[in-house]
Amino acid sequence: MEDRIKSLQAMEILDSRGNPTVLVELELEGGIQIVSRVPSGASTGAHEAVELRDDNPERFGGKGVLGAVNNVNEVIAPVLTGQKVTDQASLDRRLLELDGGPHKAKLGANAILAVSQAVLEGAARVHNQPLYRYLGGLNASVLPVPLLNVLNGGAHADNNIDIQEFMFVPVGAATFREALRMAQESYQALKKILQQKKLRTAVGDEGGFAPDLQSNRAALDLLIQAMEQGGLKPGQDMVLALDIAANEIKRDSGYFFEGGVKTGPELIDYYHRLIHDYPIISIEDGLAEDDWENWQLMTERLGDQIQLVGDDIFVTNTDRIQRGIDEICANAVLIKLNQIGTITETLQAIRLTHQAGWRTVVSHRSGETEDTTIADLAVAVNSAQIKTGAPARGERIAKYNRLLVIEHKDPSLEYAGWEAFRR
Ligand code: PGA
Ligand code: ZN
Repeated sequence: MEDRIKSLQAMEILDSRGNPTVLVELELEGGIQIVSRVPSGASTGAHEAVELRDDNPERFGGKGVLGAVNNVNEVIAPVLTGQKVTDQASLDRRLLELDGGPHKAKLGANAILAVSQAVLEGAARVHNQPLYRYLGGLNASVLPVPLLNVLNGGAHADNNIDIQEFMFVPVGAATFREALRMAQESYQALKKILQQKKLRTAVGDEGGFAPDLQSNRAALDLLIQAMEQGGLKPGQDMVLALDIAANEIKRDSGYFFEGGVKTGPELIDYYHRLIHDYPIISIEDGLAEDDWENWQLMTERLGDQIQLVGDDIFVTNTDRIQRGIDEICANAVLIKLNQIGTITETLQAIRLTHQAGWRTVVSHRSGETEDTTIADLAVAVNSAQIKTGAPARGERIAKYNRLLVIEHKDPSLEYAGWEAFRR
């Protein structure tokens, strides 16, 4: 009886950008109480599951989520009450049936994920295990390498840089704790450099700095300088990763990049030169979400040199990931729970990706909350990589702090380091 759902209640809260999002409180018969919160993206892919918003201009500029909240309280709760939280797959299936559509547009992926995530955490508590251990069992053995977004452009910042994210990747550390320290010290060094150059030190949505700079290369030069001033060897202690978020620069005529219009193959040439000149280990969304042909070309040309991560092209959706595997587009998948909407489907996406010999990167969204489920998820599935923002701002730090605690309490886990990028 202890593991059965006694009550399920949602409410509207705010995310890190101050936009409304969904919180769910779950209570079990045995008295266990769980709180779950979902994030929200800004550079959202067209193929993502639907984040249900009220579109009522009188509240939060139309971004209210009272409809999604109501769906949890009035539609989902009556059906799930009395069910066992340990039956994740069947409860998730019930959620899909209740919604009935392929994109979760009726109930909202925000409503559905908040419930699915609460159920998972509830089951872990019933088993008296930390979430990563309940979910990953004995298989969970590595702590992920963090990809820390320290310089922002694109849709995440009000500056003139068109690459969305420049990330520090502390691969050379021996432990997660050391990795975080290395990245944090270089982040602080970067701040000093910006101050000396009289550049803005205001930050973007994920905590990275958002200065106006001459070019993308100027940004990369600053990052290298920051690493060196932080006492690190670029390419050895720490490397770089980029998220181009190419959807955001795609128009009918081509990709708007560095003041001109570029074709897919021209962008690929540009990346080719960039990875020759800088220690870049990974490029995410180098091309747009439906540009399969050029994704194939990019993988052919760069795939044996760096990690090519698909975010908007795959949207954590097994159908799209399978197409990518079949057509050899990319060699890694970004995993965002709210792109697909349930725990079960997320785990299926991860399994499919790993079976193909590809890497996964578990990811936050640009609009986040204090929820730390993704930290546990990354450890549980041996993802070996996690992307959750700068080493600054509470909602980002919450995930890194959770990983620090996991590492501290569980000496059986090893920091992935360079292994994270081996295929
Ligand atoms: P988003 O950005 O959460 O705004 O979609 C993150 C990303 O593109 O990876
Ligand atoms: Zn992305």
